[in-house]
Amino acid sequence: MKILANDGIAPGGKQQLEAAGFEVITTKVAQEQLINYINENEIAAIIVRSATKVRKDLIDACPTLKVIGRAGVGMDNIDVEYARSKGLKVFNTPAASSASVAELVFAHLYGGVRFLHDSNRNMPLEGDSRFKELKKNYAGGRELRGKTLGIIGFGRIGQEVAKIGLGVGMNVIACTSSSEEKEVNVTLEFFNGQKVELPVKQLPMEELIAEADFITLHIPSQKEPVIGKNELQQMKDGVAIINAARGGVIDEVALIEALEDGKVSFAALDTFENEPTPALKVLMNGRVSLSPHIGAATNEAQERIGEELAEHLIKLLK
Ligand code: MLT
Repeated sequence: MKILANDGIAPGGKQQLEAAGFEVITTKVAQEQLINYINENEIAAIIVRSATKVRKDLIDACPTLKVIGRAGVGMDNIDVEYARSKGLKVFNTPAASSASVAELVFAHLYGGVRFLHDSNRNMPLEGDSRFKELKKNYAGGRELRGKTLGIIGFGRIGQEVAKIGLGVGMNVIACTSSSEEKEVNVTLEFFNGQKVELPVKQLPMEELIAEADFITLHIPSQKEPVIGKNELQQMKDGVAIINAARGGVIDEVALIEALEDGKVSFAALDTFENEPTPALKVLMNGRVSLSPHIGAATNEAQERIGEELAEHLIKLLK
């Protein structure tokens, strides 16, 4: 049986599948050629990350396909319900990348409060007189410790973000859809195995956005942005926003306006509208730090994802 890992698979997962007798093909097949390729090679399962789309037309045109594995969390690139209605098995690996995404959020946060992204681009050559000027420009850095971090979306990734935030001394708050405030405990586990339970206050979105110094989003793809002009206006002056969830959850036009008029001090976008190419206004803004959707792109996360994919596929295909 052949498995096409069209957006790749980590070596550990590939080995597990091969040891179980499957042929794993890691050739990247272009989207337009995918249907032909699957049919010609009688592919039984396809593994995708976010780049490859598995839509109705492909599902209908590929009768050999029995399983779709999503190497990651978001299933917005797959017509999941349709595939299931046609008898295909569809699964993802929801927990394997949470820690990596959360760490990327903090990479962006620390980079933002110390202007690393902008200073990297502006370092002068030897003898350039702008050195002093730059030092002055970047003098007003901020510490994260003691500031309020607002998390919109308190699932696996949101909770991992909360743990790091609490660990570095932030006041962490999270969104709830209920109108009442409540508290949930998250467990911080230290390197020596010691565990500490710490409470995170959950409050409605309008209260969270008014209180937070930094806002990070961890929600699935939405039809309409959850952060638009109105929400931006209700935020604290100088707020910073991180999006490592999905493009489209923030209205980018409104965000750029808010950056230009100083309401938002910086934004970091690992996911943005029109991926993989950010809008020019987003790309050119020195207060936007961009990364090419790499939340899950660590060796550790990919190894875990590979192993989870292999376990599911072996069970489902055998
Ligand atoms: C996910 O949904 O797992 C992430 O966005 C990472 C990815 O798509 O590769």
